[in-house]
Amino acid sequence: MPMQSLTPKEIVVELDKYIVGQAAAKRSVAIALRNRWRRRQVESPLREEIAPKNIIMIGPTGVGKTEIARRLATLAQSPFLKVEASKFTEVGYVGRDVESMVRDLLEIAINMVKDEQKELTQGLAEANAEERILDILLPPSPRRQESTSQGGGSDALLLQDSGQGALSSLQSPESPEPSEFSTREKFREMLRSGRLDERELELDLVESRGAPMVEVMGFSGMEDMQSNLRDAFSKIFPKKKQKRKLKVPEALKGLIQEETERLVDMDMVMKEALSRTEQSGIIFLDEIDKIASRNSGGQGPEVSREGVQRDLLPIVEGSTVPTKHGMVKTDHILFIASGAFHMCKPSDLIPELQGRFPIRVELHSLGRDEFVRILTEPENALIKQYTALMATEGVELVFEPESIQELAELAVQVNERTEEIGARRLHTVMERVLDDLSFDASERGGDLFLVTADYVREQLSDIVQDQDLSRYIL
Ligand SMILES: Nc1ncnc2c1ncn2[C@@H]1O[C@H](COP(=O)(O)OP(=O)(O)OP(=O)(O)O)[C@@H](O)[C@H]1O
Ligand SMILES: [Mg+2]
Repeated sequence: MPMQSLTPKEIVVELDKYIVGQAAAKRSVAIALRNRWRRRQVESPLREEIAPKNIIMIGPTGVGKTEIARRLATLAQSPFLKVEASKFTEVGYVGRDVESMVRDLLEIAINMVKDEQKELTQGLAEANAEERILDILLPPSPRRQESTSQGGGSDALLLQDSGQGALSSLQSPESPEPSEFSTREKFREMLRSGRLDERELELDLVESRGAPMVEVMGFSGMEDMQSNLRDAFSKIFPKKKQKRKLKVPEALKGLIQEETERLVDMDMVMKEALSRTEQSGIIFLDEIDKIASRNSGGQGPEVSREGVQRDLLPIVEGSTVPTKHGMVKTDHILFIASGAFHMCKPSDLIPELQGRFPIRVELHSLGRDEFVRILTEPENALIKQYTALMATEGVELVFEPESIQELAELAVQVNERTEEIGARRLHTVMERVLDDLSFDASERGGDLFLVTADYVREQLSDIVQDQDLSRYIL
């Protein structure tokens, strides 16, 4: 697993591709991520003692906190869950209890391992499916000769030895009559080149139960019960085989899926997923400031906020959470919390919880130069996005460098005059500047549209000058 061993510097380099500035925050999360890997290299008794150093990222709105977490998730290659702390309610109240995040994390890990396994067995599944199609197309053949087919298939064969009957190339190849063999090969040839695509086949397919869904955004605390019920039912009513008439490509798809399901060893997947969740899971707790408040005067939401904090404690500290796939120990799960902390401070969290997040990093608010860079540099930069969008209409959108300076400058001004919303302001400003073009672009195919500093001013300055207007429009 090459990604998991990215060094802190490499992680920062990756983050730099999407996030401008905020070096301190990038550094901290990079170190935390690498420490997971380091811990796993340590010998056992000591390894168990090394607890993750949880992080709080503090910074105003729209400066990249969530963005860092999102990008980290793709880098981490460990089970990664991002949740809004404000979504939870105290145990006993209507809403999601905090333990659900551990269950969700495990589901993510399961899907992750399962996908990896599917990828590994893909070649073999495809080869098997092809043979099955050929069996249907050329039925009365008691003996069959099968060639080891398609790249990847043989690799998977070495890794996977549980699927009985799947090991086509290991079956003793009784020598077939040459004519039969060549017919089969001819059909294979036709199948691969797509000349059989219009053929219809009738075949038995196991009804797929659908991929297990990760319900991260749910509302009720019932989902675990629901899925337990669903599981129970699927055991009572075993998977049905269904006869269906399908065109060859669909049939192939269905068979590949069926073969994949069969080849993936779910016991192994569960074991691996549990261990990954415990050993390298990361939970990103967004909006933690929303549950931080001291003046728990007595009634209202305040009570339950502190309650949520208390519920969080054991999970962050390390406890065992029961899930339907087994117990999950949370001792080594890394927590990264983030919040704007406008109305309150980290010190407003209950003391026990503060102690569980020893690392604090601040993200600073963004200025004009950073805006310029955000507009142009990241791989998903707004200018790149709009240019690509317009290109679909055949319009070549070009920004003069000065126009980008102007955009950034105006965004800063609006942030200062109305409300500070960080880089999100760039979205509203850009949308406004390109409003006319966005409306006309479909009729302007072949045009070159040059955005100059004057054009930006022309489109925006009235609004920027007028505070009231900009409150509504930008
Ligand atoms: N430093 C940055 N570099 C590049 N893009 C950024 C940066 N900061 C913010 N953005 C962009 O601004 C938008 C909002 O950023 P993000 O979601 O990270 O804000 P946040 O810090 O989590 O704010 P909030 O406290 O409101 O949740 C995103 O589209 C993101 O791409
Ligand atoms: Mg955020």
